[in-house]
Formats: sequence, C-alpha cells, structure tokens
Amino acid sequence: MSSKSKCSPLSSIGQKQVMAVTGLLLCGFLVTHMLGNFTLLIGSDAFNKYSHALTSNPLIYLAEVGLALLFISHIVMAFRVIIANKKARPTPYHTYTKSGRGGTFASATMAYSGVIALVFLVFHILGLKFGTHYSTIVGGVEMRDIYKTTVEYFQGSTLHLAGYLIAVIALGIHTSHGFWSAFQSLGFNHPKYNPKIELLSTLFGFYVAIGFSIFPIFCYFQGGH
Ligand code: HEM
Repeated sequence: MSSKSKCSPLSSIGQKQVMAVTGLLLCGFLVTHMLGNFTLLIGSDAFNKYSHALTSNPLIYLAEVGLALLFISHIVMAFRVIIANKKARPTPYHTYTKSGRGGTFASATMAYSGVIALVFLVFHILGLKFGTHYSTIVGGVEMRDIYKTTVEYFQGSTLHLAGYLIAVIALGIHTSHGFWSAFQSLGFNHPKYNPKIELLSTLFGFYVAIGFSIFPIFCYFQGGH
C-alpha cells in the first residue's frame, strides 16, 4: 500500500528525506555560524570585520533566501511527519525505536526542542540582526558595530543569557538526535557504522550546546563599554 498522503506530492519517506537533507545542511550552517562567531572572542574589530565581509557581499541575499528556504522546508516537513504519525497512531510512542537506537529523551522531545529552537531564532534575528544599529570605523572603512549590539544585548541581562542558554541546550538535544535520524532516513543504516554515527551525533549535540553557550556567557561578563 502506498504511504503517499492525498494532499502531499511527497511520500512519507520522501518527506523524511527532505527533512534529513535540509537538517544536515542546517547543521552545516550551524558549524560555519559558530566558527564565525569565534571572532567575537578575538575582539570588536575582528567580529565587525567578519560581519561586514559577509553582509557587504551581494551574494548574502541569495544565501539568506537559501537559508530561509532550508528552515521553512525543514519545519513544514517536520509538521507533516508529526501529523501523519499522529493520524497513523494516536497514542504517543517512540517513532525511532525501530531505528536500532532505542527511544531516547532527545528522540521523544524532537518536536518540543524544535519549537524552542524556532522561537529562539525569531528572537535572535530581531535582537541582533535587526537590533540597535551602531556604526564604527575599522581600518578606515565605516561599518556596522555589530560587536557593540551583541555585547550590549547580553551584558548584565540575565533574561537574555538564560533564554539563550535554554535555547542552545534544546538545539543541542535536537541536533544530537536529528543528526543520527537524518542518516537513518537517508538509508545509512549498517550495524557496523551505526555506533559511530550515534557517537558522532551525540558529539555534534554537545558541540552545538557548549559552543553556542560560550558567546552569550562571554558577552554577559564583558566589562563596561
Ligand atoms: C548563541 C550564540 C549566537 C550568537 C552570538 C549569534 C550571533 C549572530 C549575529 C551577531 C547575527 C547578525 C549578523 C549580522 O547581521 O551581521 C546572527 C544572525 C543569524 N543567526 Fe546567530 N548567533 C548565535 C546562535 C545562533 C543559532 C544557534 C542559530 C540557529 C538556530 C543562529 C542563526 C542565525 C541566523 C539564521 C541569522 C541570520 C543570518 C542572515 O540573515 O544573514 N544563530 N547571529
């Protein structure tokens, strides 16, 4: 029997594959975004120059559209899969127990951690990208002082710090299972490699949660501006 739903052009397997590919590409974005953010720890000039190099490149608009499409497709597919699972089996159960990994806290809370990450993203973009606009001059070039906006956002604000820490921990939990799950959906399921993928997935979750926690903590404790 076909698992194709009447209103969707994609089979449920296809939807999971789209979720997997978009999820892995978003993981790639997280890696590059975090590496770029490390310039924050070097100092204001390094962070501002890095951000200016990105935002003054005309290709940024293309990259932003691509990124938005990745987020939208990932979220839309996630909702479709959740609804299809609920219809198929109204009593909650661990969808992923069959994958061989067993039901984990991360697998059982994917929808919640995903929603937390989404809410975070809205506040994150409003608070920093569209946050207070200061200007500075670095090496004779006028640019946005995104360092000042970022530090000011967290400096002494326990609410912003706590919100970010909760969100990046949720994102770490989400990716710790998502990474593994993506490999399963794409058919990389072999008893020999499964333990390695599982370890890699858990490490990636820690990398996201710990790595992204460093920046708000660093800014929170920054001295006067
Ligand atoms: C927790 C530490 C983080 C810091 C300090 C940080 C910093 C920033 C800053 C300063 C910007 C604005 C860049 C600019 O306009 O020049 C930005 C944009 C952005 N951040 Fe983050 N970020 C963090 C975590 C995250 C996470 C975990 C995600 C994903 C869930 C994320 C997704 C984005 C996105 C999608 C943009 C908009 C990119 C664009 O439109 O060009 N960030 N971030």
